[in-house]
Amino acid sequence: MADAKRSGGGSDDEIHDLLRVAHAAAVLAHSPYSKIQVGAALVASNGEIYTGCNVENASFGLTLCAERAAVAKAVSSGATSFRAIAIASTERHPLMPCGACRQVLREFATDMRIHVQGKEGPRVDTTLAELLPRAFGPADVH
Ligand code: THU
Repeated sequence: MADAKRSGGGSDDEIHDLLRVAHAAAVLAHSPYSKIQVGAALVASNGEIYTGCNVENASFGLTLCAERAAVAKAVSSGATSFRAIAIASTERHPLMPCGACRQVLREFATDMRIHVQGKEGPRVDTTLAELLPRAFGPADVH
C-alpha cells in the first residue's frame, strides 16, 4: 500500500507536492547522530507514492538512507518500476542522493526524475541518468 495520494509527473505543481510529501517523511527520521533529517517520496509507474526517511544506527555503517528506505518500502509493497523521486532534508542546501542510493535506484529504472530540496533553499531538478552516467546495471549481470 502506498503512503500518499497518487502523483502524475513532472509539472511544477506536482514536483512541489511531491517535495512536500518528502519533507513530511523527513520528520520521521531516526537520526540522533547526524541530526540531519532526510525524507524521500518515490513515485511508482502507476502513480503510487512510497516514502522513506533515514534510519541511523549506533553502529554508524548500518545507517540506511531515506531513498533506500523508500525503495525497500515500495518493492516490499509490490512496486518495482519508478518514474520520479523527491528528496527533502533539514539541511540548508539540497542534499543530493549518495552514490549507493543512485545505484539502488538504477536497479529499478534506467532513468527517472530526481528533485532535491533543502529546508528553504533552491530546488535541484535532475535525472538519474545525469547523476549516474554510464551506469552498471541489471543488464550487465547474466
Ligand atoms: N542520507 C540520506 O538519507 N540520503 C542520502 O542520499 C545521503 C545521506 C542520510 C544518512 C545519514 O543519516 C545522514 O543523511 C548523514 O549522512
